[in-house]
Amino acid sequence: MRVFVMMVMMMLLVGVGVVVLGSGRSKGYRPVVIVHGIFDGPKQFRMLSRFIKQAHPGTEVVTLALYDYLSSLHPLWQQVGGFGRALTSIMSRSPAGVHLLCFSQGGLICRALLYTLPHHNVHSFISLSSPQAGQYGDTHYLRWLFPERLKRNVFHVCYNNFGQKISICDYWNDPHHRARYLARSSFLPLINAERHHALAQHWKENFLRIRKLVLIGGPDDDVITPWQSSHFGFYDGQENIVDMRNQDYYKEDGFGLKTLDDRGGVELCQYSGVKHGAWHSNYSVFTGCIKPWLT
Ligand SMILES: *[C@@H]1O[C@H](CO)[C@@H](O)[C@H](O)[C@H]1NC(C)=O
Repeated sequence: MRVFVMMVMMMLLVGVGVVVLGSGRSKGYRPVVIVHGIFDGPKQFRMLSRFIKQAHPGTEVVTLALYDYLSSLHPLWQQVGGFGRALTSIMSRSPAGVHLLCFSQGGLICRALLYTLPHHNVHSFISLSSPQAGQYGDTHYLRWLFPERLKRNVFHVCYNNFGQKISICDYWNDPHHRARYLARSSFLPLINAERHHALAQHWKENFLRIRKLVLIGGPDDDVITPWQSSHFGFYDGQENIVDMRNQDYYKEDGFGLKTLDDRGGVELCQYSGVKHGAWHSNYSVFTGCIKPWLT
């Protein structure tokens, strides 16, 4: 009798073990593709890769080594082409889909990828302190690029064919020169559906293939200006902040942001005390707002 009970218990234990191992394996985390920001490259994302692999053992993490450091100043549409080829090849060998984690300027490149790569299989798009609504601020990047210029003069440099060949000009959004921004910027007004174009509907449908958009940012960033741009908020003509849900591109649903939000697909994450260069190595940010969406 006792032998019988022990055998049953052992069988149960082995059974439980098989179930636990089995579920662990069948879960199989999706690969995470990281797109870096301006003036950086894969090296800056080693800590983040380690966080991901520790939290989700076996995850493939690829930080795309393209347009690194000074090359990050290349025009964004050109970068979208290069990153697109690299991402396509990773997606094609990942039938269950991938996650896209994009930092700063990389977040704009990633959004354009989600519009333009047909049949992409990106599940979560994590936008880590990206100027999704544009940039208008005297940051140290700006002073390094245009030493003589204050932010109110940068539009002279940016809103013409030469300026548009510098990445930062592609998302320079001067609220006091709206008409010139709309007419002369070749990137942000298109991806934010602020200027009409023939592919807008197609882009929107393609963008809406994602399940989750995670927007991470915070008031102590010190580079993204206004910081609310990381949450799709931006200045009006008086430099007051208009938040995402009151932006025309949200209300008109020009690129699918409202649809995505209505179906519960948008997460806004805000953290204080994080400088721009610290987002990708902050463990609280990782556990709170990145890890939950990398399954
Ligand atoms: C990490 O994030 C926490 C939570 O917002 C913040 O208080 C802390 O200052 C951050 N640490 C660094 C080094 O950025």
